[in-house]
Amino acid sequence: MTPNANWSYPTAIRFGAGRIAELPAACAAAGLTRPLLVTDKGLAGLPITARALDILDAAGLGRAVFAEVDANPTELNLALGLEAYRAGGHDGVIAFGGGSGLDLGKMVAFMAGQTRPVWDFEDIGDWWTRADADAIAPIVAVPTTAGTGSEVGRASVLTNSETHEKKIIFHPKVLPSVVICDPELTVGMPKAITAGTGMDAFAHCLEAYCSPHYHPMSQGIALEGLRLVTEYLPRAYADGTDLEARAQMMSAAMMGAVAFQKGLGAIHAISHPIGAVHNTHHGTTNATVMQPVLRMNRPAIEDRLARAAAYLGIGSDFDAFYALVGRLNAELGIPANLTALGVTDPDLDALTASALKDPSTGGNPVEMTEENTRRLLEDCL
Ligand SMILES: [Fe+2]
Repeated sequence: MTPNANWSYPTAIRFGAGRIAELPAACAAAGLTRPLLVTDKGLAGLPITARALDILDAAGLGRAVFAEVDANPTELNLALGLEAYRAGGHDGVIAFGGGSGLDLGKMVAFMAGQTRPVWDFEDIGDWWTRADADAIAPIVAVPTTAGTGSEVGRASVLTNSETHEKKIIFHPKVLPSVVICDPELTVGMPKAITAGTGMDAFAHCLEAYCSPHYHPMSQGIALEGLRLVTEYLPRAYADGTDLEARAQMMSAAMMGAVAFQKGLGAIHAISHPIGAVHNTHHGTTNATVMQPVLRMNRPAIEDRLARAAAYLGIGSDFDAFYALVGRLNAELGIPANLTALGVTDPDLDALTASALKDPSTGGNPVEMTEENTRRLLEDCL
């Protein structure tokens, strides 16, 4: 038996195998009568997407799709999405997919009724209060990977197509009002994506757990999230049809996103600019740089990771946790370093500057400076 449940934390979550059939009920609960399903180019042609559209169609909700969404969505994708949304007279969005489809779908709903440019809502200070909250369209989120956790997040990552910078756009009402977590949708995920997205969830839990900010609730969630990934990601990777492992990974992904309200750190701070410039997979990049970041942060997190190792039942010190990351990466076929990941001829000055500007930088347990960040990047190559 795979888990099946209804949760209302942090939003309404319908969790369980086969529950994509409840998409019309989820739309009704969110107040959607003319939904636009937003997904990425790769997913648009897959049977799981056709099935979701058939379910909508049979319930009289139409089968409108927007799929001009790149792997790292940009403001250009957003502009086209808004055009499709307005032309179709839609009243809300079904954000369907991995990070790309979920994030861009959320942005289409957010921007549907705004008059200012999207960059005015970057996650800086109280910029989100500039938005007209009443004009934000309702969102139903349907994740098809297990990693980003964007389905339970209040922000989207959008890449600026001119500057190649990843920006975080935040508003409390960007949190989807209903989520359907159906592990059957993740069964067809290719091995490399299962590995990369799963390690993204691990990175969210790890960085939240190590962040020095005070948030004991997130601390507990992060720790259990680490355990779920450690136990179930190798299983989901080895056998994609293992529904229990797929379900547990969907939980871990949501837990990572809930936990990182406490902060992220150097893994994400360097992964964001690397991904934006070199177009690498986000989660795989995180996994690749994880051990070098742990080495850099070691003096500040030794005790904490010793406790995590004990909780995971793998030992009682930092080294045990560090070795676990190495074992997971090896088992999941993660490239040994950024060079092997395909990062060639990197501009270290530019990457360092972008990393230090990334909002994740503030959550790193060791203060990030020009010197240690550049050294870290060199270490990751
Ligand atoms: Fe991430």
